[in-house]
Amino acid sequence: MPDTAANDVKPFLTDVKALRNQARKNLAQGAITPNYKGDPKHTVEILQSVLATEIVCVLRYTMHSIAATGISSDAVKAEFAEHAKEEQEHMMAVAERITQLGGEPNFNPEGLASRSASQYSTGSNLIDMIKENLIAERIAVEHYRELARYFGEDDPSTKRMMEWILSVEEEHADDMHDLLVSHEGKPMLAK
Ligand SMILES: [Fe+2]
Ligand SMILES: [Fe+2]
Repeated sequence: MPDTAANDVKPFLTDVKALRNQARKNLAQGAITPNYKGDPKHTVEILQSVLATEIVCVLRYTMHSIAATGISSDAVKAEFAEHAKEEQEHMMAVAERITQLGGEPNFNPEGLASRSASQYSTGSNLIDMIKENLIAERIAVEHYRELARYFGEDDPSTKRMMEWILSVEEEHADDMHDLLVSHEGKPMLAK
């Protein structure tokens, strides 16, 4: 009888030990639990490019919010500044997600422009600035829509983040389009 009791206890202890070992091993992986179906390394790589895109957007909108001049530029400046703030929120969210996935967010200014999907274009006047922003937003919308689809159910958290950012970029594109129409009187691109 005592032998049986000992046998019952032994496997139980072994299981606890294995569990603890596993938990300890998993600790280093942070938010990546065993049922994470994505490829964290590849996801981080993709998100580094999204991060660069968002940083470039922060810089471009910030620059435009200061440099915009001309008739009724105050409202446009305010809109640019508001967008810069929202792009910064995206930048922070993406950087945090990279960290959760075990990566190190790349804020290195060196090579930033080539890592980014959108360009840093200053524009020589108010209309050019609005156009540059509209182009950048449309690139981001296309890119992010593809990414949201790509992450799918393998990584629902990253997918949700990309969908949230995507919806804000669509609003940004719409805002730029409206500004262009109100300043130029005609749409540059068919809605
Ligand atoms: Fe953004
Ligand atoms: Fe945007």
